[in-house]
Amino acid sequence: MTSSSFGKSRPQHDVDIVVFGGGGDLARRKLVPSLYDLFRDGLVPDSTRVIGVSRSDISDDGYRDMMASSTREFTPEHEFDSEVWHRFAQQLSHQYLDVGDIGQIRSLGKLLRNHGTPRIFYMALPPQLFAATCRNLGEAGLITPETRVVLEKPIGRDLSGAKRINEVFAEYLDEHQVFRIDHYLGKETVQNLMALRFGNSLFEPLWRRGRIEQVQITVAESIGVGDRGGYYENAGALRDMVQNHLLQLLCMVAMEAPTSLNADAIRDEKLKVLRSLRRIDETNVRKTTVRGQYVAGAIDGAPVKGYTEEEGVRSGSDTETYCALQVDIDNWRWAGVPFYLRTGKRLPDRYSEITLQLRPVPLALFGQKPEDLVPNRLVIRLQPDEGIKLRLMVKGRGRQMKLEPVNLDLNLAHAVRGRPLSAYERLLLEVYRGDPTLFMRRDEVEAAWSWVDPILEGWAMQEMGCKRYVAGTWGPSKAVSLLDRNNHVWAEDAP
Ligand code: BG6
Repeated sequence: MTSSSFGKSRPQHDVDIVVFGGGGDLARRKLVPSLYDLFRDGLVPDSTRVIGVSRSDISDDGYRDMMASSTREFTPEHEFDSEVWHRFAQQLSHQYLDVGDIGQIRSLGKLLRNHGTPRIFYMALPPQLFAATCRNLGEAGLITPETRVVLEKPIGRDLSGAKRINEVFAEYLDEHQVFRIDHYLGKETVQNLMALRFGNSLFEPLWRRGRIEQVQITVAESIGVGDRGGYYENAGALRDMVQNHLLQLLCMVAMEAPTSLNADAIRDEKLKVLRSLRRIDETNVRKTTVRGQYVAGAIDGAPVKGYTEEEGVRSGSDTETYCALQVDIDNWRWAGVPFYLRTGKRLPDRYSEITLQLRPVPLALFGQKPEDLVPNRLVIRLQPDEGIKLRLMVKGRGRQMKLEPVNLDLNLAHAVRGRPLSAYERLLLEVYRGDPTLFMRRDEVEAAWSWVDPILEGWAMQEMGCKRYVAGTWGPSKAVSLLDRNNHVWAEDAP
């Protein structure tokens, strides 16, 4: 097992990368632009080959042109260099292929270098094609000990679906060859959370039930479902965001210190958190969860459609585009500390933030009531701007001893020099290096689904429909009462 350095160092060997779903949205927006960025900065060997695979009848040159224009679009202008692209594009090709046809998969073998050359099969495919593609690759003899397979979330749409996929993968690959992506784990600030917690002695004494009153994790998006209505109809916010990104963030906040940065040491600790989550099912789902769906409204002053008017969405759909939950972690460190999770589309703003609110001071020394003193709060901002904020009380100007809240505000883009790697660049680099630390292990994915499935069943049994919210607002008002019953408020409403 490799130990992680999360480094930027350049892998030395040749690699063949096959992107299934090579003409899709993910390949165009993220994968090829990230590979280009890594190539430009010399972080991957020049000999790396990228073969985009799809069922489009497109020539190599046509594919290169298509990828050049999307890479231009998704790379900041000053970072796109035509001469570098030209060199990169020489290694880029396209192959027409139906992943369900083993004969065609066999022919892919002719495009790959010898068995000893590491191969990365990247499945940017709908999850229902994962198992069949893996089986066909295996039966065609294309999976070697040097092969790594990357899977995009969602891994299935429930526990049994995830298990079916994982079982097929286990027939053909060792667990260390399987890289299940949750791109949030590749974000710079998510890694900084580890640095903050385990690289400083300041926080550990505070990081516990006696000192922290509540934790909030918000992943807010102002975009709607766009052209992904078809996919989203089968997913919804709980499957699309909570089962993976938000639970992974929760694990990073709540986990114990690992014994090392070894991939399994870290993932063992995250797994313990997942296994400590209090069950939410039909008995408590109404009390602890909120489902919402946006109706037409406005974002930044521009009118936007409601969810059911989006392309690919059924007219009477009740799929949730917003989800808020109170999550309790039944373990020694966190018993009694509510973790509030929420995510939604068409909210007023795009940001992801983790807020740890400390308990209030025990005594009102300054003539104010304790409840008038704003509690300290540590805010870790993941995006769009990465930063760490600590809210403190200080004395305001004037004769009176009157306190007011101020922020110690650390903007990481200013504080740390150098270009940060994007989530996909980092994750691709880790796949090259064969380091699975930042990827979800099989048992983690299954533990997350084991917790999510009863919520989905609870919603169905309780016939818990979505509350509507107007696009451009902070979700249904029921999300306010979710916290209010504990005398808490969402961070943007707090003083
Ligand atoms: C994806 C979800 O995993 O994450 C999308 O499928 C969501 O629905 C996206 O928009 C958010 O990612 P980011 O990095 O933009 O916060």
